[in-house]
Amino acid sequence: MKIIDEIFDDISFKIGPEKNIRKEYLYRIIKRFYKLAGLEKNFIFKNLIIPNDKLDHKLKNALLNIKAMASYANGYIINRICKNLKDDQIYVNIGVWKGFSLIAGMVNTNCHVDGVDNFSEFKETNPKEEFLTNFNKYKNTSKHKFYEMDYKIYLKEFESRKIPINFYFYDGAHYYKDQLENLEIAHNFFSKDTIILIDDFNGEQVEQATMDFISKYPNQFKILKQNKTKNLNHPSFWNGNMIFQKV
Ligand SMILES: C[S@@+](CC[C@H](N)C(=O)[O-])C[C@H]1O[C@@H](n2cnc3c(N)ncnc32)[C@H](O)[C@@H]1O
Repeated sequence: MKIIDEIFDDISFKIGPEKNIRKEYLYRIIKRFYKLAGLEKNFIFKNLIIPNDKLDHKLKNALLNIKAMASYANGYIINRICKNLKDDQIYVNIGVWKGFSLIAGMVNTNCHVDGVDNFSEFKETNPKEEFLTNFNKYKNTSKHKFYEMDYKIYLKEFESRKIPINFYFYDGAHYYKDQLENLEIAHNFFSKDTIILIDDFNGEQVEQATMDFISKYPNQFKILKQNKTKNLNHPSFWNGNMIFQKV
């Protein structure tokens, strides 16, 4: 798919996903200094190299200010995919936590964006209040919606809209059962060219469930990218990702 190739051609890393971040001693020392100055995330973001004409300052500033379980590259990729969607198309993000992956799809894009979370995980981090502050800061009420509910209820209700999901990103629980089940349910709304982003692809259960799903529907999906990272929470692709498309 042209847009995915274009995005990946545009990005590179100072420290690539194959590098063991624990052995990047200079990176770690400098990061410590930035942390003391309260600018650790600004330093980590510098690991992603983007051509100047493809840099979106508003997006970068938004993402710098939202706590995330994702890297800048993840947010950047989501944003570029959404920028490529038409104004009547939709990005659905299940699992928003404090809003990083959702707002990545909202800044300087024209598509509809739906976020879903029941705030059942990481309760100790009080995500709801922070999420709502972040979401309200960037939302365009006619395009951007948030549904506080279990994703299965959301997808059940989606049926009545009679539209496909054009870009789907599930980032809820990542056990095999959840990973497979969400794809099976969302599958009802995939149409030709729907892009599916898988996060935490380093995880065995995530990889297995995704591959089992794709194998179950021969010739229906094309794998576009697969990235694993040497360590967890890597400054390139965090915990790995994968992108596939309905053909
Ligand atoms: C890893 S976090 C999401 C991180 C987020 N994508 C980001 O960019 O920072 C997973 C989120 O999925 C939500 N979640 C888990 N199970 C869910 C379910 N059944 N329905 C809706 N949301 C769920 C959790 O409440 C949690 O906020």
